[in-house]
Amino acid sequence: LRDPAFAQSAPNAKLAVIGHPIKHSASPQMHQAALDAAGIDIQYIRVEVEPHQVEACFAEMERLGFIGCNVTVPHKLEAMDLCHELTEDAKALGATNTILFKDGKRIGHNSDGPGLAQAIYEDFGKSLTELRVLILGAGGGAGRAIATQCAREGSPAIYLSNRTVEKLEPIAESLTNEYGAKLVCTLSNATEDLTTAAARVDLIINSTSLGLHFEDPLPLPESALASSQMVYDAIYNPPLTPLLAKAQELGASTSNGLSMLLHQGAISFAFWLGQSPDLAAMRRGLNY
Ligand code: ATR
Repeated sequence: LRDPAFAQSAPNAKLAVIGHPIKHSASPQMHQAALDAAGIDIQYIRVEVEPHQVEACFAEMERLGFIGCNVTVPHKLEAMDLCHELTEDAKALGATNTILFKDGKRIGHNSDGPGLAQAIYEDFGKSLTELRVLILGAGGGAGRAIATQCAREGSPAIYLSNRTVEKLEPIAESLTNEYGAKLVCTLSNATEDLTTAAARVDLIINSTSLGLHFEDPLPLPESALASSQMVYDAIYNPPLTPLLAKAQELGASTSNGLSMLLHQGAISFAFWLGQSPDLAAMRRGLNY
């Protein structure tokens, strides 16, 4: 571990988020606000964990009596392999972002998928069940979870696109065979493919990393955007990505990944502590 003394600097820490890099994570401020609001006197910290150090980190947390942790990029798959049990959500989404340490066991959960579904409902007033969706970056870790959630909710059409188009075939097969998705199309990120698909959907979700940096190009051609669309960007920092800015300019309904962060966080909190968090406190923690 890069910081084996992480608990010494926070003796009251019993929850954490692990990742690499981790210093920009907004999870600590969100969860701490909920813990404080509930009068639960423990600390939620961030821990920098390099690849292949996840097991050592879990062992250290278990030794220190941690309740659990969140897991973020790039550890969501490695963490799943280190669990003794997986919830249905973790199995379905094929990754874990939430671990509960209980009776010497590690139980892996995934709140990203259900969190996204709640975020879409809150932001656009529509359920994934009724939305035809185009997922950009569906071959990535986050994109795959989002696509699987759409299939679980019964989205009437799911268009998957990815720069590396070969990654999509196994995902499309799983959506169709395991979740009974009715219409699944795979496409490259070629302009004509994306423009055609965008015209056939209600909701476009960006789960590529394009937009994290100010100078990034749009994840789809500008000509694919229209005022009738809903556009969700899983990125929350920066809050206004070039995609959202352009979509807003064209009159589309837009939202960023803060709502997904909030709702997945609330689901994780309940999984660890057996009680729902104060969502308003979590929002205040995020300045959201
Ligand atoms: P995460 O777990 O956050 O989803 P990831 O698994 O590395 O991170 O996924 C990043 C996604 O962004 C992938 O879909 C990636 O496409 P590839 O599968 O082809 O790598 C996509 N992505 C990253 N940089 C991109 C770029 N410059 N243009 C298009 N897509 C990009």
